[in-house]
Amino acid sequence: MTHPHPLPLSLILFGITLLTSLLPLTLGQQPVVNALVAPITKDSCTSLYTIALNSTQQYLIDLTGRFVWGPCPTFYYPVHCTAPICNEARFSDCPIINGYRPPGFCRCEKSMRHPITGACFSGNETLIPIYIASTDGRNPTSLVSADYVNICAPDSSLAGLPHGAVGIAGFGRTSLVSLPARIAWDVSGVPWQFRLNGNPSFYNRFALCLPSTTNAPGVAFFGANPYHFLPTYLPDISNFLTYTTLLQSPSYNDVAYYLNVKGLAVNGMSVSLPTFSVKLSTTIPYTTMRTSIYKPFIEAYKTATNWIPHKPSVEPFELCFDTRDLGSTRVGYGVPPIDIMLNEGKNWTIFGANSLKDVKANTACLAFVDGGENETVAITLGGFQMEDSFLLFDVPNSTLGFIPTLRGLQTTCSNFNFTSLV
Ligand SMILES: *[C@@H]1O[C@H](CO)[C@@H](O)[C@H](O)[C@H]1NC(C)=O
Ligand SMILES: *[C@@H]1O[C@H](CO)[C@@H](O)[C@H](O)[C@H]1NC(C)=O
Ligand SMILES: *[C@@H]1O[C@H](CO)[C@@H](O)[C@H](O)[C@H]1NC(C)=O
Ligand SMILES: *[C@@H]1O[C@H](CO)[C@@H](O)[C@H](O)[C@H]1NC(C)=O
Ligand SMILES: *[C@@H]1O[C@H](CO)[C@@H](O)[C@H](O)[C@H]1NC(C)=O
Ligand SMILES: *[C@@H]1O[C@H](CO)[C@@H](O)[C@H](O)[C@H]1NC(C)=O
Repeated sequence: MTHPHPLPLSLILFGITLLTSLLPLTLGQQPVVNALVAPITKDSCTSLYTIALNSTQQYLIDLTGRFVWGPCPTFYYPVHCTAPICNEARFSDCPIINGYRPPGFCRCEKSMRHPITGACFSGNETLIPIYIASTDGRNPTSLVSADYVNICAPDSSLAGLPHGAVGIAGFGRTSLVSLPARIAWDVSGVPWQFRLNGNPSFYNRFALCLPSTTNAPGVAFFGANPYHFLPTYLPDISNFLTYTTLLQSPSYNDVAYYLNVKGLAVNGMSVSLPTFSVKLSTTIPYTTMRTSIYKPFIEAYKTATNWIPHKPSVEPFELCFDTRDLGSTRVGYGVPPIDIMLNEGKNWTIFGANSLKDVKANTACLAFVDGGENETVAITLGGFQMEDSFLLFDVPNSTLGFIPTLRGLQTTCSNFNFTSLV
């Protein structure tokens, strides 16, 4: 009986490089990559969002997730437990289920809490190539390949994901292991210059534009602008961004993005609340507030809409209206705007399209949910409130460029032209 010899990490990485360096040869010389693009789909059953990697494999988008969790081929090179990409994937509140038992090759084994079901899973870390389209900002151009960090997921971990999804893509604040961090590291070309034409100015900057419809995809960009949406005469969308600082949780375990917020206002009237921060999440469908924030907010909204008769509540929402009593505007139902007042004096304004959700014929409800009195985060902004928003995360610079709704510019997240130029 033979035991596999432990291989030094450099050899393993070299092996992976040899393996993957063969693939792009068939694609010819890869051009310098300025930005990459991938479609985002909204699942009709769960209202969750997936990104297509490697052309059609769907991964749940988890803005608060640390790493990518997905399928692995039968044969893969495990990452060594002393590698930096192993170290950065370390933190989890889940125990490691199998665990490394010496002697032998010290495998990087990780555990993860499933963002939807809360269950814990373990898997080995490896590097896997993905194909992703580069873009000139208007269309996909050619396919390039990048290596990303993947934790090999057991099939049981796919429960709770949209039908057909194969894994979870973490977009959290990390320097090496989240999907955008890893793509940036790879495309900037430091280690693989002979494979990709490295672009040293490429860094961890990504944009999410979540679709409001299940019928047409939204879009994710990795890298620099321009970011164009139809109609073609519309200028680069980055000309319309407002910028704010992204806060970091003091807990190293928490890789989510937070906004520094001064208060909330409904219809221009400030709701009196203590200062708090707002977390961004793509894995909860609706914005969730701690009860001490939710109650005064709902009262303020009732006051601002006291001219509209109420309809019976529809779970999980409290405040519902007859849509025949509401006007309609370019930015959704004509209801009072909600301002998230940021510390820099700027506002993230939520209009009808992102505040009222159609729940059944002639009924729309205020799509904010009471998270209970012990909810740890004061406000977590959920997917519905970010649909058709354009969000540009500049991770090293800790800034968020945002447009609360593209509808104000007479476009939507589903208006990127995915007709490929190859
Ligand atoms: C990691 O890989 C080892 C060796 O192939 C395997 O025995 C172990 O079950 C794997 N761990 C997990 C959590 O899949
Ligand atoms: C992407 O496709 C390539 C080539 O078909 C394959 O080798 C690779 O394992 C795929 N990546 C993932 C993440 O499935
Ligand atoms: C932000 O919203 C508040 C409350 O509605 C308003 O008083 C303030 O003028 C707004 N600030 C900007 C820059 O629009
Ligand atoms: C919130 O926490 C307090 C103190 O731990 C506890 O007494 C209370 O029952 C909790 N409330 C809810 C709704 O879980
Ligand atoms: C980084 O953020 C600062 C403000 O926080 C801004 O002035 C600067 O332009 C940003 N740099 C880049 C490269 O976006
Ligand atoms: C989408 O892009 C293709 C390729 O550039 C172009 O031929 C087509 O006209 C564009 N579609 C629209 C609606 O502009």
